[in-house]
Amino acid sequence: MNVLTILGSPRSKGNTAHILNQFVLGIQHADSEAEINHIFLQNKNIKNCIGCNSCQRVGACVLQDDMNDIYPLIKNADVLVLATPVFVFNMTAQLKGFLDRLYAVDKEFFKEKRIVLLTTYGDSNEASSGVQNIVNTIRLISEMLSIQFVQNINISTYDLQCYENEKALNKAFESGKKLV
Ligand SMILES: Cc1cc2nc3c(=O)[nH]c(=O)nc-3n(C[C@H](O)[C@H](O)[C@H](O)COP(=O)(O)O)c2cc1C
Repeated sequence: MNVLTILGSPRSKGNTAHILNQFVLGIQHADSEAEINHIFLQNKNIKNCIGCNSCQRVGACVLQDDMNDIYPLIKNADVLVLATPVFVFNMTAQLKGFLDRLYAVDKEFFKEKRIVLLTTYGDSNEASSGVQNIVNTIRLISEMLSIQFVQNINISTYDLQCYENEKALNKAFESGKKLV
C-alpha cells in the first residue's frame, strides 16, 4: 500500500501533526511494508491557482513550483491522508491552496484511490467548530472524483493538547490500523 500524507497545519509538531503521526504508526503496525510519503505544505512552494483554465485546455498547469514533484506522488498513492486544523471554521489556507491545484488533473488520475481526513479544532463543541465545513468539502471532492472517503477523525484540543490526549492518540492509531 502506498500512502501519501498531506499536513495542512503550519505547525510541524502541533496537534494535527501528532494525530497524523499516530495514524501513520497505526498503518505501519498493520502493514510494515506500507510505503509512506509525507508532504508538509507549509514548507512547500505551492502557488495559488490563478484560474486561467489552461489545465482544462492543454491538460497541464502552467504554474511551475513544487506541485511538479507532488503530482507524481499523488498519482502513485493508493491512499491520500489529508490532515488539517480548523482555521476560521474551515481548512487551512495551505490545504485549500493545495486542493485548488488538483483542479489541473483529471478524474482518471484519482482512479481507485481512497481518502482519509484528520482534523483538530479548538472549540469544545464539534458542531460550532466549523469542522463539518471541511468534512463536507472532502465528501464533495470524493464524490466528484469517484474516490472513496474512508475515514474521518475530528479531535477537539479544548481540554488537552493532542500530545497529552491518550484517548485521541489511541483513536488515531487504531484508525490507521483499520485502513490496511
Ligand atoms: C488562525 C486560527 C483560527 C482558528 N479557528 C478555529 C475555528 O474556527 N474553530 C475551532 O474550533 N478552532 C479554531 N482554531 C483552533 C485550532 O483549530 C486548534 O488549536 C488546532 O488544534 C491547532 O492545530 P495545530 O496545533 O496543528 O496547529 C483556530 C486557530 C488558529 C491559529
